Amino acid sequence: MLRTDILALLESSVPGYSLPQEFYNDPAFFDLDMQMIFHRDWLFAIPACEIPETGNYVTHKIGRTSVIIVRGADGEIRAFHNVCRHRGSTLCSAAKGTSPKLVCAYHQWTYELDGRLLFARDMGDDFDPSQHGLKPVHCREASGLVFICLAAQAPDFDQFAEQSARYLAPHGLADAKVAHESTIIEEGNWKLVLENNRECYHCSGNHPSLCRTFLDNPAVIGNSDDTGLDAETLEYIARCEAAGAPSKYMVDDTGTWRYVRTPLVGDAESYTMSGKVAVTPPLSNFSFKNAGALLMFHYPATWNHFLSDHTILFRVTPISPTQTEVSTKWLVHKDAEEGRDYSLENLTKVWMDTNSEDKRVVENCQEGVLSTAYEPGPYSAMHESGVIQFVEWYTTTLKNRVSEQPETLASPLLRRTN
Ligand code: FES
Ligand SMILES: [Fe+2]
Repeated sequence: MLRTDILALLESSVPGYSLPQEFYNDPAFFDLDMQMIFHRDWLFAIPACEIPETGNYVTHKIGRTSVIIVRGADGEIRAFHNVCRHRGSTLCSAAKGTSPKLVCAYHQWTYELDGRLLFARDMGDDFDPSQHGLKPVHCREASGLVFICLAAQAPDFDQFAEQSARYLAPHGLADAKVAHESTIIEEGNWKLVLENNRECYHCSGNHPSLCRTFLDNPAVIGNSDDTGLDAETLEYIARCEAAGAPSKYMVDDTGTWRYVRTPLVGDAESYTMSGKVAVTPPLSNFSFKNAGALLMFHYPATWNHFLSDHTILFRVTPISPTQTEVSTKWLVHKDAEEGRDYSLENLTKVWMDTNSEDKRVVENCQEGVLSTAYEPGPYSAMHESGVIQFVEWYTTTLKNRVSEQPETLASPLLRRTN
């Protein structure tokens, strides 16, 4: 693909309109997204509480690159390429597990949890184990959320980590455990999945369970100032801030991440069918239950909801031009016991319903976008300002990065093969 062709197509996309078809279905553009976005930016991987003990690990595949995220004997979480330094075998095939060392099943090369090669049988006197440690992947924790970055030089993470420390302080992720996880494949391009998440224009027509408690108010979740907020919302924000819970909308300069706290419908406390909290003890330290929901997105791989009683984390992983994996994890207090302190059905119903409804609308959208009749259509400035913001972030990021490339771009074939 030629750099000038991509830049010309980016230039041809009209602000406030959905993207040209190629961005949603063309394998070459998918490879471009993987190369320029998913191999460059910080990606949410797992909650730190998923690997609480030494030797706990999780693997995560981005394109054809698999990464091991593991907790070391010193308590540190590190990430490595999941590729043995002998002849390249995948080191850990399981999605998750626990192991005192990382041992390759092929010829038993054995690595410490910090990536150092500890043992390689009969490799001769001139073999230097220190030159054959696992290749590190950038890995940072932001208040209980583990992010990785596949780039040689990772972008800044400090500002996000600092703000996460402020916003997530009341939410107790250090005392969390994963109560449930669900992974679905949506037959849609990853950007259609993100676009769908960034608006609630579709909520009233598609999400009866979610709409019982989630307030569809674009003025609250998309505003950088108090303009357009009613007295009730301002009182809610003031109440949360007084309780030590930062709540005001904050987006970073590049538009990559955002925090904002929003009230729920009426007196609702959590995303349940009844509106009552789903879990006790709560995960947060709020003294009141109707603390609303702290919403965070961090492009390109996550959006999240932090409630007074539990937290829901979402992870987006592109698989092919028209397939995206969406994983959802429900976090509760580690002392909460299933059956006694919460029921999984009550805890997960609203977002299990919502995920399957979103899967349907994204798939319908992808199907229509594939048609010869598709042309970019206008977003609603009132209801889809979040989508406009996402598409602006995407096109600006891509433009900047493609501009720095040589005229002929390599096709890196980064698609997942499993
Ligand atoms: S490929 Fe891993 S030990 Fe040989
Ligand atoms: Fe939705």
